[in-house]
Amino acid sequence: MTDSVSDLLKAHRTHRNFTDQPVTDETLATIITAAQHAPTSQYLQAYSLIEVTDPTIRQALAKITTRATVATQGRLLVVLADQHRNAKLAATPVAKRALTELDRFMGSVEDATLMTEAMVMVTESLGLGSVVLGSINNDTQAVIDYLHLPALTLPVFGFQLGYPATEPETKPRLGLPALLFKNQYVEPERYQTELTRFDQRLHTYYQQRGGNARDEHLANMTREALGTAAKRRDFLTIARRQGFLPEIED
Ligand SMILES: Cc1cc2nc3c(=O)[nH]c(=O)nc-3n(C[C@H](O)[C@H](O)[C@H](O)COP(=O)(O)O)c2cc1C
Repeated sequence: MTDSVSDLLKAHRTHRNFTDQPVTDETLATIITAAQHAPTSQYLQAYSLIEVTDPTIRQALAKITTRATVATQGRLLVVLADQHRNAKLAATPVAKRALTELDRFMGSVEDATLMTEAMVMVTESLGLGSVVLGSINNDTQAVIDYLHLPALTLPVFGFQLGYPATEPETKPRLGLPALLFKNQYVEPERYQTELTRFDQRLHTYYQQRGGNARDEHLANMTREALGTAAKRRDFLTIARRQGFLPEIED
């Protein structure tokens, strides 16, 4: 437990291994209902959650996310961008059409994202840990099929939570000169100095950390993250199949 929201945020680290201690329904509900108070675009609350308890589906999601523990440990939610509910509520052709378009599509992904980060924080405030799993979109269509997702919904993240079995160290973050600009996107004098400083800090972190110590540099890590061919090239096609992002003729 930590004293303040900023201490909690600064102590954040992703957890990927969880003990057998069950997360009760009450705890899960506490986390979700608190996280629902995240800001939401146009007050549309354009997300929903599916808890996955079926062992076959969890196994499939473990394979898709390439994380074996997803099959068995903790509780597992899939966070959806969801304009399906709003289409039902609004129920006019104009509103339904609006909900398919890019800005509302982005609104639902933004809502789902902010809500997920809020779940991360509430989870940690209660002494639990979590991992956000963007990798469920390694096979978006399979997730849609397993979860029977209706039109105007799409998976955004997996969210696995539980009582931490290990305590990873917090990873350092960039200092402000690398990301805080004034009035215009003009890199401040200390921009390059900060990148060099952060690179050293990152290098030390990776060399000194408890598990999986290694020789890392910022530019290499960035290159490695981007070195493979673009992933999820089918995402637009699948989003369109789900009713989002129609071709616009005007
Ligand atoms: C959008 C998003 C997607 C992510 N997807 C995955 C994932 O698929 N698998 C995973 O193990 N971690 C995933 N993570 C966690 C990141 O790897 C982690 O946040 C990052 O390495 C920084 O570490 P920290 O959270 O411990 O500070 C994801 C995080 C975000 C924000």
